[in-house]
Amino acid sequence: MKLTIIGTGYVGLVTGTCFAEVGHRVICVDNDAAKVKMLQSGGIPIYEPGLEEMVKKNVAAGRLSFSNSTAEGVANSDIVFIAVPTPPQPDGSVDMSFIERVARDIAGAMTEYKIIVDKSTVPVQTGEKVAETIKRYCKSRVECDVVSNPEFLREGFAVEDLMKPDRIVIGVRTQRPVQAMKEVYEPFKAPIIVTDINSAELIKHASNSFLALKISYINAVSVICEATGANVQEVAAGMGMDERIGRRFLNPSLGFGGSCFPKDLSAFIKIAEELRYDFGLLKEVQKINANQMDRFVKKITDTVWVLKGKTIGVLGLAFKQNTDDVRTSPAIELCQRLQKEGATLRVHDPKAMEKAKALLNSDVTYVENMNDVAEGCDALVIATEWDEFKKLDLDRARKLLSHPIMFDGRNLFDPKEMEKLGFIYKSIGR
Ligand code: UGA
Repeated sequence: MKLTIIGTGYVGLVTGTCFAEVGHRVICVDNDAAKVKMLQSGGIPIYEPGLEEMVKKNVAAGRLSFSNSTAEGVANSDIVFIAVPTPPQPDGSVDMSFIERVARDIAGAMTEYKIIVDKSTVPVQTGEKVAETIKRYCKSRVECDVVSNPEFLREGFAVEDLMKPDRIVIGVRTQRPVQAMKEVYEPFKAPIIVTDINSAELIKHASNSFLALKISYINAVSVICEATGANVQEVAAGMGMDERIGRRFLNPSLGFGGSCFPKDLSAFIKIAEELRYDFGLLKEVQKINANQMDRFVKKITDTVWVLKGKTIGVLGLAFKQNTDDVRTSPAIELCQRLQKEGATLRVHDPKAMEKAKALLNSDVTYVENMNDVAEGCDALVIATEWDEFKKLDLDRARKLLSHPIMFDGRNLFDPKEMEKLGFIYKSIGR
């Protein structure tokens, strides 16, 4: 099929590439001329495992191309996907100006029937607004169908999640676009659920909020574990064996971050408020998440005491493993708080060091090899759950640290083993 994706961020670029991979002809459009130029010359603006190879392969096969013209995309495709940012505003509500702009651009370029699909995460009832806007600005007065098709990919696993989705959600107003949408997704062999547009939009906000709730739940349980000597890993394992609960997203941490959960929670709370429902449950999820960071910082200061004049090593800057994304990263927040207390930092992240530089004070030492970070540090902190940190040379770290203290915000090591190795080791909920 001939498809256009507007927006080449995480969702747009990975979706467009995976659509090309299964045989569709895809044009990825972005209004950032520099980004389009970079993509046209073989560069990839984000780190995402497997993406670069897949882009190259599909560009070479003539199935994937890049453009900064919405009109070109609309003219050359049957279905136009909107995948532009929906950033938060200071009051927690969603800035819809990018979506609105794109809807007008598409309307202006339409000369025949098109299916317009919203993939961006949007408040419920956005589809209706997009349909109205297109109708208003479409001079040629041709028909279109607006579809809601939320995306559930995780950064760091985006290609994998897209190629093997748990489900495809298609929200429609009439049956007319359903067959074409099913054809787009047929190669992915995933269950498809067809709903009305409002329900599809809600599935996305309700899912992300539920996953955030699950993380806050286990983080709250971790507090009880610490107070009673129980082990949160064992509690999570035992809970997770119940299929109704499931083990995934029960990993205690120094809090969740990223460009989705914090923003989507605030948006969902705000949407509820506008509908005159106080979503107190989700406010508590936010509160637990903020407390988790406070508790972790306190754990550090309780042990190390005064941070002024101390050097702290930090492993991990990205908001999670397998990505270079530092937006709303708990690891960055932690670094900033340590810097505010007067600590000097030595940091390492396998992919996110470049992007972190813009967010941290300039006196940070960026260390290329994770095994060198501990050198001369008063304590070492694990802030992101990168798999490779599990292979840290612990003997060497202990020798390099001026005091063998480790704070593990991701529970990567076994407390008993760490004690045996001579560490003062503090993790979450154990
Ligand atoms: C999240 C959702 O998982 C995706 O399904 C959704 O498509 C995406 O948002 C989106 O709306 O675009 P993402 O933000 O990329 O994906 O990353 P997650 O893997 O969900 O992790 C979010 C945060 O929660 C990270 O900071 C991670 O470290 C933390 N986390 C995750 C925990 O603290 N514990 C866990 O058990 C799992």
